[in-house]
Amino acid sequence: MYNSSNISINEQGHLVFAGQDTVELAKQYGTPAYIMDEERIRERCRIYRSAMEEHFGEGSIPLFASKALSVKRIYEIMAEEGMGIDIVSSGELYTALKAGFDLSKAYFHGNNKTDFDIKYGIENGIGHFVCDNADELRAINEIAGANRIKQHILLRITPGIDPHTLAAINTGKVDSKFGAAIETGQADELVALALSLENIALDGYHCHIGSQIFEYEPFVDAATIMLTFMRDMKVKYGFEAQIMNLGGGMGVKYVNSDPEINYASNIAGIATLCKKICRDLGLNQPKFLLEPGRSIVADSGITLYTVGGVKEIPGFKNYVSIDGGMPDNPRYALYQSRYDAVVANKASLPADYECTLAGRCCESGDLIGEGMMLCKPVRGDTVAVFVTGAYNYAMASHYNRIPKAPIVMVNKNGSYIAVKRETFEDLCKNEI
Ligand code: LLP
Repeated sequence: MYNSSNISINEQGHLVFAGQDTVELAKQYGTPAYIMDEERIRERCRIYRSAMEEHFGEGSIPLFASKALSVKRIYEIMAEEGMGIDIVSSGELYTALKAGFDLSKAYFHGNNKTDFDIKYGIENGIGHFVCDNADELRAINEIAGANRIKQHILLRITPGIDPHTLAAINTGKVDSKFGAAIETGQADELVALALSLENIALDGYHCHIGSQIFEYEPFVDAATIMLTFMRDMKVKYGFEAQIMNLGGGMGVKYVNSDPEINYASNIAGIATLCKKICRDLGLNQPKFLLEPGRSIVADSGITLYTVGGVKEIPGFKNYVSIDGGMPDNPRYALYQSRYDAVVANKASLPADYECTLAGRCCESGDLIGEGMMLCKPVRGDTVAVFVTGAYNYAMASHYNRIPKAPIVMVNKNGSYIAVKRETFEDLCKNEI
């Protein structure tokens, strides 16, 4: 079974998550349901915040990449924990606003911000746009001018790093749809343009090299390239950046065979080297930002399902069908992402039954995982899938007209609904 400090088994042999009996939670809230450990989310925020403050210095903070989970309750928690946020759409901005989040601590990302997005951001006092390209930069300048403000921005720069190959290897990442590449000279041109525009206050740079990165070296490689670029721009234009945002992407232990990550020591490792690079390059140390998404919420979440049946195809495979699937978790269908699961009401029994965990949609690819090991379940049993807190609810759909599952928060005092289960009426509410 997936092992983590917030997971245990009680005397009835039930899976306990964050102190709560998951079989009872399934009874109380129905299935499928996302269950989230509020304390774990807060703990991760604190690890990032204190490690960044300690190792990078004051003013260096983590921004929660809210594309991983964008609901009001999460923004409230982020505000309480002193986090900044990364948002990528006006919808995320609206949700943060509804939660009372202070948007001066928000960074608006995306490779195609519409005029509406830019106006909406400016009207609501967005702290920074992370500007992707020259067209967008001019549009921000114009809209900021119309609003008689100088808009603070970062520029999204492509350092040309592939974190999944050997560290520091330059790859074809220059062809990313995001940002401007240093290698092609376009990043330099974007800086020149930003500095020439009247209503733009350029504060620094941003890069994001990818996700599920387990070591800290790729971040240091990216930082080396970015800080060298910062030095070059200082020499060429006399502009010294105040902010260096190194993006998100620290890995998460999705299954037991993945490594456990010590986020604080990763941050310490990145910070030590960044400070040294700044000294070597003769730069004043900028404020550093990181944008963790999944490493804040992924292992704070599990999904509970009810088994509908077991189908054995002799000589082939065994299917265990559950009452959710790709509408609540499309990540196996999209990326063949791996998950661990357990029969929550038989958690202490041996997991010796190999099966494919199949969703309920009319589509063969609707699976949560293949070759999974469970205790053989029967109809009515509860299955828990681990590490579903990031990019599950955020990517949920209504495929096959299935209402979205609720998000139930658990903490030491009990449990509460953060997002209600959708109803059939919700499915039709926009239909005339
Ligand atoms: N910052 C930027 C600019 C990003 O593009 C992303 C993720 C993050 C931060 C957060 O990365 P994280 O720490 O969560 O790895 N739907 C995919 C993930 C796409 C992520 C895109 N950008 C999935 O389910 O794995």
